[in-house]
Amino acid sequence: MKLTAIAWIAAIINQQSAVGAAVSLGAQQKPPYFILTGDSTVAVNGGWGDGFLSFLKAPAEGINPAKSGATTVSFRRQGLWDKALQAVRDNAANAQPIVTMQFGHNDQKPAANISTEQFRNNLEVMSREAREAGAFPIIITSLTRRTFENGQVVQNLKEHSELAIQAAKAAGAMVLDLNMASTNYVNAIGEANAQYYNLAEGDRTHLNPKGEVVFGRLVIDLLLDQRKDLGCYFRPNPVLSEKLRKGEFATGDE
Ligand SMILES: *[C@@H]1O[C@H](CO)[C@@H](O)[C@H](O)[C@H]1NC(C)=O
Repeated sequence: MKLTAIAWIAAIINQQSAVGAAVSLGAQQKPPYFILTGDSTVAVNGGWGDGFLSFLKAPAEGINPAKSGATTVSFRRQGLWDKALQAVRDNAANAQPIVTMQFGHNDQKPAANISTEQFRNNLEVMSREAREAGAFPIIITSLTRRTFENGQVVQNLKEHSELAIQAAKAAGAMVLDLNMASTNYVNAIGEANAQYYNLAEGDRTHLNPKGEVVFGRLVIDLLLDQRKDLGCYFRPNPVLSEKLRKGEFATGDE
């Protein structure tokens, strides 16, 4: 009798921990819902955002609300940030919303009149707001421009990339150092190959459709280095990923 009672209690405890495990597993298994915020180097027609989304596998989904010309100030002023936070809230029940933030190309322009301290602070505040809305925030450092001097990429986004990393640390957000990865990649393939990705002749900032795929993949690979659990939501492309890792020229047709 005693033994039966103990067995019965043990069975209940077992059952409860099984239920607990199922609940936490269920939460982890919610598919990601990506909300890609940023400037033209992320946006539709010229940025890596759509290339990134093109690798997603259902039921994972994402949107690309990045905006050409955007700064951390204008994105909020134009109501785009509020819409991004609304998308987080709308999708939190059925997915794990992930907000990526990549700004800097326009914030750094003197005409924007945004101090380095403001830029850093704006990204920190955005990360906190994204998390409060229910998202996993990720700050991405700026995609390199493909301007060269003496055979090396001109690193004119380094200061803003360092500020973005500081903002992520302060807010406890994940960082993908796309500035470093894209600088290294473009240096490895060389100046001539790097121009293959230009949206228009001489446009060394924006990406054509092939460039969107190549640099979208680069962002995915940086993400999966830190979030291996998300690997099952992306269509793999081992040939492209290996070229990116080895610094070999990729055409986007891999
Ligand atoms: C630049 O920003 C500062 C601080 O926000 C402000 O005081 C100043 O008037 C602005 N300058 C211009 C030219 O808009």
